[in-house]
Amino acid sequence: MHIRRLSSVDLAEVVALEKKSGSGWTREAVSEELDRSLGLQLVAYEDSSGRVIGWCCGLSVGDEAELLRIAVIQSKRKCGVASVLLAQFEKECIGQEVSSIFLEVADKNLAARQLYEKYDYKQVGRRKNYYSRPKDDALVMNKMLL
Ligand SMILES: CC(C)(COP(=O)(O)OP(=O)(O)OC[C@H]1O[C@@H](n2cnc3c(N)ncnc32)[C@H](O)[C@@H]1OP(=O)(O)O)[C@@H](O)C(=O)NCCC(=O)NCCS
Repeated sequence: MHIRRLSSVDLAEVVALEKKSGSGWTREAVSEELDRSLGLQLVAYEDSSGRVIGWCCGLSVGDEAELLRIAVIQSKRKCGVASVLLAQFEKECIGQEVSSIFLEVADKNLAARQLYEKYDYKQVGRRKNYYSRPKDDALVMNKMLL
């Protein structure tokens, strides 16, 4: 597996990945991330086939960054793909002198919460009923990088 910046050629695969995961990330939403001037989007791809197996996106403003999304195709979950994407996201943030990363995660999303906790993200807040479908709180998490 390797990581590269997301480009428009990856769009269809990322949208298909999101569609299968049942998220609200539409083609328009992913395209908007590509166009975001302060954005950082990465894809993980399989060496043998070149197919996209995961992606993440975020943005940085000054010394703070926000991770907006990270997702991995079903068949490659629990194989370390999100870990590699997150590590690369953090590395690129450090390269941009970002000192702190924030993110929001649904309280009931145990896989994601455990991913972030494993890599030292700490809960710093809770937004009650932030998500409506399904209804859930958002936990705000933060990691200091420097
Ligand atoms: C959350 C998600 C990105 C994790 O991706 P992944 O590639 O499977 O994660 P990794 O294999 O790198 O796992 C790293 C750690 O995350 C945690 N984790 C991952 N999947 C987990 C699961 N199903 N249950 C519990 N913990 C899990 C574990 O702590 C794991 O470490 P371990 O392997 O030592 O136990 C993936 O499940 C996914 O795409 N989910 C749907 C999209 C989503 O919810 N994104 C996050 C919110 S934006």
